Amino acid sequence: MDKKLALAVIASGRGSNFEALAAACRDDRFPARIAILLTDNPEAGALAVAEAFGIERAVVDCGPKKGSMSPDASERMAALCGERGVGLVCLAGFMRIVKGELMRAFRGRMINIHPALLPSFKGLDGQRQALEYGVRYAGCTVHFVDEGVDTGPILVQRVVPVSQEDTVESLSARILAEEHIAYPMAVRLIAEGRVRADGRRVFIHDDD
Ligand code: GRF
Repeated sequence: MDKKLALAVIASGRGSNFEALAAACRDDRFPARIAILLTDNPEAGALAVAEAFGIERAVVDCGPKKGSMSPDASERMAALCGERGVGLVCLAGFMRIVKGELMRAFRGRMINIHPALLPSFKGLDGQRQALEYGVRYAGCTVHFVDEGVDTGPILVQRVVPVSQEDTVESLSARILAEEHIAYPMAVRLIAEGRVRADGRRVFIHDDD
């Protein structure tokens, strides 16, 4: 019997976080595997990543409304996940707010990665928002997904100092490198059953 936690990754773009997860899952000792890559974007770089890793992939038309997903698309994604025994949905640059059946079916079992230290700089361009605000420390956050935009309970954060010379590009690149560590780390914690959420606070049990 396959004891690994089955993941679905949902991405709209480049797919570097998906790739970091796929690379982590290639290790036999990693406690999760990727069952399917879902995207709303037939042009997504993530599709080529899935192909390279031999991971099943599906494009689901989420409707014309930017940032939102149609009820049909939500049902379709939930069904694709359900049929594959997915236990955790990982949003990785999915540019739509999850609602409908997917939200209902995976509440508490869906996480997202955001390129800022939440609750600061929610929404688009977190790195630019942080730089323009003038913070000394930026970073990334893996959090559970709720109905809001980047509002769910926080699981993992990694901090990146901001330097005087930083541009949006240089800061984004350093944050991205931390994202690629943070996301597999968060998945591992959940897959090992070490995470307990109590309201907004997420408790992580030490290894025995
Ligand atoms: C990342 O910066 C992630 O934090 C944000 O969207 C971006 C996706 O990048 N949610 P990639 O497609 O994983 O390379």
